[in-house]
Amino acid sequence: MGCYKIDVFLNQFLNLIFMQFFIDTANLDHIREAAELGILDGVTTNPSLMAKEGISGQDAIMKHYRDICDIVGPGKDVSAEVISTDFKGMVEEGKRLAELHENIVVKVPMIKDGVKAIAHFTDIDIRTNCTLVFSAGQAILAAKAGATYLSPFIGRVDDITWDGISLIKEISEIYIMQGYQTAILAASIRTPLHIVQSAKAGADVVTCPLSAITGLLKHPLTDIGLANFLADHKKANG
Ligand code: G3P
Repeated sequence: MGCYKIDVFLNQFLNLIFMQFFIDTANLDHIREAAELGILDGVTTNPSLMAKEGISGQDAIMKHYRDICDIVGPGKDVSAEVISTDFKGMVEEGKRLAELHENIVVKVPMIKDGVKAIAHFTDIDIRTNCTLVFSAGQAILAAKAGATYLSPFIGRVDDITWDGISLIKEISEIYIMQGYQTAILAASIRTPLHIVQSAKAGADVVTCPLSAITGLLKHPLTDIGLANFLADHKKANG
């Protein structure tokens, strides 16, 4: 526990420099695998991802968030989403989630009461992730309310034949021009290409399924080159 604050400080400092890699899942094996790769900076979840893992009931949900926080370790943000849609409910739920573990960031939907809740959480130093963002206008509102993270859903924008990556670029330009401190967390990432494009478009964080992260590894010339190196070594050394 003694090193916890130093780890948190270092992590926050690095966050200012490099694009962060979060994993977008509630699957503990996937989270462990990404953490073991040594490149994991945080986790995002949502009610659909929790349901997909069969996690239901208040106690089980809270335990699952704690388990995720323990796997990723100090200084790695874990987004946990509120289910309430009214201000009072979101605030009560968000406080309970934030008290669970130092890593927890309260995920709040981009609706009127959500903006109000984010502004309130900002006032009482609870970190937030504004989710279900699909426009630059919504991004401005969330930043004005002091959201720690903003989650534009690029895959779902692509799904309706708009351009998710252009949305990241537009928000990035606005945030730089206006000096907003909210971090752009490119969400609903489906492919390794989305990750590369998000990096070029100015995302501060990408949250991706494990398959998109490991997909970055793949190149046929790497595989052919390695096979040749090993074959040459075998020829020379028997
Ligand atoms: O981070 C948001 C994400 O979980 C949504 O992804 O693929 O359901 O649009 P998707």
